[in-house]
Amino acid sequence: MSELFGKSAFHMADVGGKIPSNRRALAMGRIFVGEHAFEHISAGTLPKGDVLKIAEMAGITGAKKTADIIPLCHPLPLEHVAIRLVLEPETHSVAVYALVACFDKTGVEMEALSAVNASLLTLYDLTKPVEPALTISDISLLLKEGGKKGHWIRPEGLPKEVAEFAKTPAAKPLQGVNCVVITLSDRAFNGTYKDLSGPALAQKLTDMGASITSQKVLPDDQQQLEKSLRELCNGNQVELIMTTGGTGLTARDITPEAISAVIEKPAPGFGEVLRSASARTISTAWLSRSIAGVCKQTLIVSLPGSPKAIGECLQIMSPFIGHAVRLASGKSHLGGGSK
Ligand code: MTE
Repeated sequence: MSELFGKSAFHMADVGGKIPSNRRALAMGRIFVGEHAFEHISAGTLPKGDVLKIAEMAGITGAKKTADIIPLCHPLPLEHVAIRLVLEPETHSVAVYALVACFDKTGVEMEALSAVNASLLTLYDLTKPVEPALTISDISLLLKEGGKKGHWIRPEGLPKEVAEFAKTPAAKPLQGVNCVVITLSDRAFNGTYKDLSGPALAQKLTDMGASITSQKVLPDDQQQLEKSLRELCNGNQVELIMTTGGTGLTARDITPEAISAVIEKPAPGFGEVLRSASARTISTAWLSRSIAGVCKQTLIVSLPGSPKAIGECLQIMSPFIGHAVRLASGKSHLGGGSK
């Protein structure tokens, strides 16, 4: 490499190939202000004005400006910022909590931390006329969600009220959904290969709130798969069937054909989004013939046969899979669907 274009001393992470997902982060920090200033803050009598309201607004601005002040942060289109200030009389301190959300390729923990800092510095700025001995401390990330690593929470856990503030309604999009997992693989069925995809799929669905009512391994045989699917859908107990494997191009890949034969309503959007979003990171995603559709009141979705693909595909579907299941099962008021 020429001298002119030698290595830079730093680099911004290239997130071009990453798949967007719902991201959230919760951060906190504290400012210790002493007894005298604490009374002013509580009574709203600081000379420059009502610090609690201004610090709350400063937190929102802090989150929005993160990419401007932290050089290697990507600019992110934030969907939500919530700031809470909690007065702590025993220690004469104010705790700041910042919750930030977006749908994107990289996390929002720097936005949450930046929000906390902006809010604490605003508290500092408005409190210093009555008390110069101020201490900012305890700035930390409490929770982050989204991306490949999923859900992370501080090892010591969160106090109940903080956990309540950070609760995501969409964190478990398949809460209470009865789900069956089917692996299609001759080799796994014959025992010459350990089925890794079925257990990985069942675990991810459980993490999304689903109840796995059964899990089976079938050979790549169209008639057997069709029979199984029909029995499950006729039983009226299963709201979601997810298959893994057999979506490719070999002679034995028959999963899409079996599903096509049993569904009354194809849902082509699933295959379209799974292929196009996955292809940003792996070009062979275009080789999967994954399909989905509704048989009676059961949604059937086929995924490729690798644990990696399963993780990627569930991440892609997580914003809409719960709604799709409710529409198919007739449980959604939005779909007009009491059948
Ligand atoms: N999709 C995602 N998201 N990630 C993957 O790794 N693998 C691809 C594709 N779809 C893949 C993916 C590959 S290599 C193949 S051959 C096809 O899915 C078909 O896989 P299957 O025959 O196991 O269903």
